[in-house]
Amino acid sequence: MASKQMVHMNQGQGERSYARNSGIQNAQQNRMKLLIERAIINLCSSSTTLLPDKMVIADLGCSSGPNALALVSVAVEAIHDYCLQLQQPPPELCVFLNDLPDNDFNTVVKSLVTLRRCDGPVVVTGIAPGSFYERLFTSSSVHLVCSSSSLHWLSKAPEVLTRNQIPAYYIDEHARREKLPMVLGAYEQQFRKDFRHFLELRAKELVPGGQMVVSIIGRHSDGIAHFHIWDILAQVLSLMASEGVIDKAKFDSFYVPVYGTSKEDIREVIQEEGSFSIKEILVHDFLSGLDNTLVTPSWIANQIRAVYEQIVVQHFGDVMDEFVRIAERRWGLDRSLLQEEHAGLAMLTLSVAKAR
Ligand SMILES: C[S@@+](CC[C@H](N)C(=O)[O-])C[C@H]1O[C@@H](n2cnc3c(N)ncnc32)[C@H](O)[C@@H]1O
Repeated sequence: MASKQMVHMNQGQGERSYARNSGIQNAQQNRMKLLIERAIINLCSSSTTLLPDKMVIADLGCSSGPNALALVSVAVEAIHDYCLQLQQPPPELCVFLNDLPDNDFNTVVKSLVTLRRCDGPVVVTGIAPGSFYERLFTSSSVHLVCSSSSLHWLSKAPEVLTRNQIPAYYIDEHARREKLPMVLGAYEQQFRKDFRHFLELRAKELVPGGQMVVSIIGRHSDGIAHFHIWDILAQVLSLMASEGVIDKAKFDSFYVPVYGTSKEDIREVIQEEGSFSIKEILVHDFLSGLDNTLVTPSWIANQIRAVYEQIVVQHFGDVMDEFVRIAERRWGLDRSLLQEEHAGLAMLTLSVAKAR
């Protein structure tokens, strides 16, 4: 079973790295740009406070590669532009990047200097390793929290499944259909618990009026969930189990701690928790914003590999070359499957503010 220590994207800058296989997440970050710019304007133009002389910005679940700095760079640029426009001195900025301790922070650290510009505000940078399901910053110290494509990762797979050895994905289709509502219900409960806890923690760390702009991989709203957002991975692995490449019993005990929530669920948890007011929640198709010619079986297989390789290899051993081969064969035989299997997925983006 997966624990949080096992979660990290493929490291380095090589062919299989997350740095070179994160185009889907990058397209999502581009969609967050406007919301981050608006959040900065809100922070800077608050009628009750003057432009702060110091601001702290954090990206939670930054991973490595170009995406790690993308959101905080947008925020720094937006502050710079705002101050230039109003001819005000820019605040000093402190930028923190967070991810789990096994993240490839070495690569991240080398790129941090790009945040310093001679004509821009003073930018001090730091790494905040740890789980975003724990406290990361001191009370009332952070102005803006960003996070992209990370909060669908749960603190753990639902214990009610792992403890009772209930498979998350049944190879047999009949059993899968029958058990899916119960399995997804367990995942949903874990998500709600984790997300609520995340909100409570961030509410402590944000200054009054602090802002959060967060994107989560989820699903389109069509009532109850009827698939895992990691189905696309599970389907290929179940083929591998059927073909004897991986052990069926091992497949039955494989859990990915990831849940695809919906706009309604997010809204409900935020309202129940009560620390934040919702400014916007946007929903986009999962593969929108991408150059369609890019979305080939091989490209998708490598994107999936960069995200899930560590978690798969720790459970099944070194099977990822075979995974890519079987995935390419499956989607190569029927290209419409690729679109179909992504159709229910959505990118959810939310902008919230803590009460002043
Ligand atoms: C798909 S990557 C997204 C990376 C980057 N934000 C982007 O948009 O490309 C998800 C990241 O979330 C991190 N992550 C998952 N669970 C986490 C947790 N509990 N605390 C901090 N980071 C976490 C993973 O290690 C991974 O780097």
